[in-house]
Amino acid sequence: MATPPDHLALLASLRWQIAMGADEAILEAAAPRARRPAPEPERPPEAEPSGKAPQRIPAAPRKATPHGEAAAALAAAATTLDELREAMAGFTGSPLRETATNLVFSDGVPGAPVMVIGEAPGAEEDRLGKPFVGASGQLLDRMFASIGLNRAESLYITNILPFRPPGNRTPTDAEIALFLPFVLRHVALARPRFLVLAGGVAAKGVLQSRDGITRLRGRWHQVSILDGQVLMALPTLHPAYLLRSPIAKRDAWADLLLLQRVMNDGGIGAAEKG
Ligand code: URA
Repeated sequence: MATPPDHLALLASLRWQIAMGADEAILEAAAPRARRPAPEPERPPEAEPSGKAPQRIPAAPRKATPHGEAAAALAAAATTLDELREAMAGFTGSPLRETATNLVFSDGVPGAPVMVIGEAPGAEEDRLGKPFVGASGQLLDRMFASIGLNRAESLYITNILPFRPPGNRTPTDAEIALFLPFVLRHVALARPRFLVLAGGVAAKGVLQSRDGITRLRGRWHQVSILDGQVLMALPTLHPAYLLRSPIAKRDAWADLLLLQRVMNDGGIGAAEKG
């Protein structure tokens, strides 16, 4: 006898397709113009008012620097999210603070089961002081809504960098390393059950990996947080990349279904760990 369809899964899939802007049915067979998506670039560019190409900045060596030590000490001393926000606002070890308009700390509910970590604020986020409020933020909201998660109840959102890099350029390795103690402390204080790492910068930064997002995404990774907690993290594609490569949305959808399944099951089976 044929297996009955899983109506909840079908409904979630339909919601996802509507959220992604699908407005017509297509055939299973690939259309001639369907091509594999280009690999996600290091920095998924948001619409950039200047229209300039994102600059590439050479990576800095990963050794302890006085600013790095100051960041680690400030992060470790923060015992609440408010203290952490204040510590980051007062941290003078990065020139990004001088060019940014606002510190972009977080949005959503502290203590939510899922914490999303993105890359860095764009122009809108910098203006409003909130992460993911521009076009890619709207897509991020629709993606999570399709598996029943939202900022009002079940998501907590931050970025690797709390300040917008000028011209939306890619964060350098040195900037990522400098702010990482703040990010890890942020996770320890927010205490999510799961981390979702949106894009290559978040995945490489938090997982301390040299692999690209296409290798890292779609499976669970263990992350050790500063206070000895071990959390499961799921890297996925950045919504800004999905806006430019809609064909990759199917991979993001598979990642979100994996998150939903693990949340519904209440944990991660050994088979699902990366
Ligand atoms: N892209 C990010 O990675 N973070 C934001 O907050 C906005 C866009």
